[in-house]
Amino acid sequence: MTKLCVAVVGVGHLGQHHARIAASAPDAVLTAVVDPDPLRGPEIAAKFGAPWVATLAEVLGEVDAVQIAAPTGFHHALGTQALKAGKHVLMEKPLAATLDEGVALLKALGEARASHPRLVAQVGHLERFNPAVTALRERGFKPRFLEAVRVSPFPARSLEVDVVMDVMIHDLDLLRALVGRPVVDVEAVGVPVLTPYADLVNARLKFEGGAFATVTASRVARKKERTLRAFGDKEYASLDFATQKLELLRLVMGPEGPQVQPETADIVEGEPLRLEIEAFHAACLGRSEEGVTWAEAQEAMGVADQVQKAVAKSLLEMSRA
Ligand SMILES: NC(=O)c1ccc[n+]([C@@H]2O[C@H](COP(=O)([O-])OP(=O)(O)OC[C@H]3O[C@@H](n4cnc5c(N)ncnc54)[C@H](O)[C@@H]3O)[C@@H](O)[C@H]2O)c1
Repeated sequence: MTKLCVAVVGVGHLGQHHARIAASAPDAVLTAVVDPDPLRGPEIAAKFGAPWVATLAEVLGEVDAVQIAAPTGFHHALGTQALKAGKHVLMEKPLAATLDEGVALLKALGEARASHPRLVAQVGHLERFNPAVTALRERGFKPRFLEAVRVSPFPARSLEVDVVMDVMIHDLDLLRALVGRPVVDVEAVGVPVLTPYADLVNARLKFEGGAFATVTASRVARKKERTLRAFGDKEYASLDFATQKLELLRLVMGPEGPQVQPETADIVEGEPLRLEIEAFHAACLGRSEEGVTWAEAQEAMGVADQVQKAVAKSLLEMSRA
């Protein structure tokens, strides 16, 4: 069976897990670890039995696909370089640091597909692969009101972007996928706390068709929490991303009137990042179409951009008050 030759680009906090998973994936061979850090690169390469190189250019001729987990500010340059060489790309989220860079990446993808029509380009929105999310989606749950919370203590990483692009983007993508309709209105407030950018943001999103969501993201919280509550027509779901737990309640008509009935969700536990990366490998080998496309990721970035603009407006109003 043909295996996919893969390079993992950037092996810091998250990229080390890309390397671990690529090295043990059934459909791939970890062909190289790319990282300019002369200590970190060789350390992770040796751990997973692959050669280390400092730059992507050194291995592009030897691989079929790249998994990019370098800092967000490098996504545009690395993604463009990989596409020009006709390589499949799994880009960590967010697709790019800014909406303009995302547009440029989509343009580069279109150009690359002119000569490589089967090129796969996905983004690491790993909550889409969270087994609790899969279980919720498989039930055909139609949310009307959603409440997402994603907060953690200060990470001291990914500080070149605000909490919207770094953290809230997970929920902006997922909420769009769950509701299945575009966002038509955005309100948001946020504050910088430990960085020059907003570290704590609350946004309210209205979707076409009337569904509504509130989303809170913080990187200055005391404790970690990653949860979603969703209310549908006579149904309610409470989901914990970290524990992969899904609590479901349904309103049913009993002999004595309406009753709230708990329901069990069938969850096949699994590591979301492994599921996402293996789906990418399968897509590159033409065996699956699963995965978040760059176009979808760019739509989430479009909503993130609206949230950022609303936060900037609210900060301006506060400074004038
Ligand atoms: N999907 C998720 O849940 C999730 C979680 C964490 C981070 N991320 C994303 O992963 C990316 C990396 O984040 P991190 O926290 O691992 O950062 P990090 O700072 O821990 O690691 C980044 C690594 O990339 C290397 N690097 C820097 N420039 C490079 C280049 N030009 N080419 C190759 N490697 C380069 C650095 O030396 C470092 O080892 C970010 O885009 C972030 O948003 C996603």
